Amino acid sequence: MNTVKTVKELRAAVARARSEGKRIGFVPTMGNLHSGHAALVTKAAQRVDFVVASIFVNPLQFGPAEDLDKYPRTLAADQEKLVQAGCHLLFAPTVEEMYPDGMGVQTRVSVPHLSEGLCGASRPGHFEGVATVVSKLFNMVQPDLAVFGQKDYQQLAVIRALVRDLNMPIQIIGEPTVRAEDGLALSSRNGYLTTEQRATAPALYRSMQQVAKAIEGGERDYERLLGEAREQITAAGFKTDYFEIRHGINLRPATAEDRDVVIIAAAYIGSTRLIDNLHLNLDA
Ligand code: PAF
Repeated sequence: MNTVKTVKELRAAVARARSEGKRIGFVPTMGNLHSGHAALVTKAAQRVDFVVASIFVNPLQFGPAEDLDKYPRTLAADQEKLVQAGCHLLFAPTVEEMYPDGMGVQTRVSVPHLSEGLCGASRPGHFEGVATVVSKLFNMVQPDLAVFGQKDYQQLAVIRALVRDLNMPIQIIGEPTVRAEDGLALSSRNGYLTTEQRATAPALYRSMQQVAKAIEGGERDYERLLGEAREQITAAGFKTDYFEIRHGINLRPATAEDRDVVIIAAAYIGSTRLIDNLHLNLDA
C-alpha cells in the first residue's frame, strides 16, 4: 500500500489504476482505525479492484469546544490495519493541503433539512463540515463507489443526499455497525472511556434493543417508549443529548404508520459523546 500526502500524487496514482482498467472504491476516515473501519475497506475490496482510503481529521467538522486537538492520531497502526484489510492507496493530507487558502474562504456544501436536528442540533456546522470535506475528497479521488458506516446514520443520509443532489456518479454503500461482544458500537471515541464508563456504555444499545422489541411487538406509543428509554439510560449514568424514533430515510419524527424507522440516539458518559442507532424495516 502506498501512502500519499498531496492531491497531485493521489490523482496520479488513481489515474494509473484507472488506465489499467481498475474500478475505484473509496473509504474516507479520520484515522484511529478499528475493526469497524476495516469492515468498510473489506467491503470496498470485495466490490472493486483498487481501494483508496483517506485519513484526515477534518477541522471543519469540529465545533470550537469539541475534541479536534485530542482526537487520536495513530498513522503507523492505521497503515498496518489498512494493508490487512486490502487497501491499495492511502491519502493522508495535511490541513494545508486540504484547505490551502484557509477554512474561512473555503466553499461550503450544505445539505438542508437532513443536517438539522439530532446531531446537527448539538453540533452546529458539523454536517456542513462533513459534506464539504466529503465533496472535496470525492472530487479528488473520483471513485466509482464509496463505503460509509451505518453507525453515523445521519451522516450517511446527508452524504446520500449530497451525491444525489449534486449528481455525483458515485455509488454509496452503507455498511452495518460493528459491535463489541456486549453490544457497544465500535467508535474511536470509546478510547476516551474509563473502565467504569466502558462498563456502562452498552446500556445505550440495550435500551435501543428494548424499544425495537416493543415496536416489533406492535407498540406505537412512541412518546411513552422514548420517555422510558430516556429514563433508563439516565439511570444507567448517561446524559441524553437525544433519543428519538425517526423515519428511516427522511429522518422526520416517525409516525405510527411508518414502516421504515430508525431508533437513533446520542448520549454523554462523562465528557464522551456516544452515538448509536437501530434501523427497523417493519415490513420485513
Ligand atoms: O465519519 C468520519 O470519519 C468522517 O465524518 C468523514 C466521513 C471521514 C469525513 O471527515
